[in-house]
Amino acid sequence: MKRLMRMRATQHLRDLCAETGFNRAQLIQPFFVVEGLKEDEPIAGLRGNVRLSIASALRQIENDLKDGVTHFLLFPVPGEKRENNFDHQFERDVISQIKKRFGSNLCLWVDTCLCAYTTHGHCAVLDQKGIDLPTTLNELANSALAFAESGADGISPSDMMDGRVAHIRSKLDANGFDIVPVMSYSTKFASNFYGPFRNAADSAPQFGDRKAYQLDVRNRSDAVACSVRCAEEGADVLMVKPGLTSLDLIMPIKEATSLQVGAYQVSGEYAGLSLLADNGLIDFERGLMETWHVFKRAGAQFIITYGARYAKKLGI
Ligand code: PBG
Repeated sequence: MKRLMRMRATQHLRDLCAETGFNRAQLIQPFFVVEGLKEDEPIAGLRGNVRLSIASALRQIENDLKDGVTHFLLFPVPGEKRENNFDHQFERDVISQIKKRFGSNLCLWVDTCLCAYTTHGHCAVLDQKGIDLPTTLNELANSALAFAESGADGISPSDMMDGRVAHIRSKLDANGFDIVPVMSYSTKFASNFYGPFRNAADSAPQFGDRKAYQLDVRNRSDAVACSVRCAEEGADVLMVKPGLTSLDLIMPIKEATSLQVGAYQVSGEYAGLSLLADNGLIDFERGLMETWHVFKRAGAQFIITYGARYAKKLGI
């Protein structure tokens, strides 16, 4: 009888045949730093993650480095919201303090978007007609430059505006930051799974939704085309988001672009695990591992996950 079970019988045999594996260096830990915060604040659903002040972010990073996290994705949450002409003073402060303290012990990626900065919570500057694209692209490029000047190791645009990677790239190049990579949120859907994040970043749209700029979940061609566009505009690495609902797109994007593609296990996906565990319905850490293995099996090169800081404990 054909026995496919034979090679699953022991841990040694299973490990011998495991097709994908992990490297802790391929996990990226997001974190939120909030201007003017007096005390850390919990984030509903995001086990192990809180809204941090600059001082507590430095302590958190120190602990994470001890736990073997090397890649971080910063979400700065400025205290004051505006329509336009964002000043980036707070972000400059956060980034430079982190880099001054930890230098090249970490790789600091900075999320680049406008939704945590704008009064209306959209990822763009708006005018009477809707998105004011030229002004938006200019603001995004200015953000990227401010972050690079402050010491960011990489820029991560998450706004989904056409042309933003090209604008950011040329702004960085023109100012001597030609070596700073762009990790683009290249295939990002208008998703219902961003809820816990929007609470943490105080970035929920105050009216309407993001469907005019983020992808329609029904569309495969547009999803691949968006990543191809980012690659053509000069993105260095790409990403699908949410991760679990985009698994089918990872390989087509890799094949179409010859770039590495990561998966973002977004806040709602991660909160799913947290909330199951809070109710005694799943072993949190094993469940987390299972999802990471699935990202790897689907071809993801790296994983952005709120649980990166658990990796060492999980033996990765
Ligand atoms: C900002 C941004 C979002 C996320 C990352 N960058 C939210 C959104 O697009 O509304 C979501 C991440 C998560 O849910 O973990 N545009």
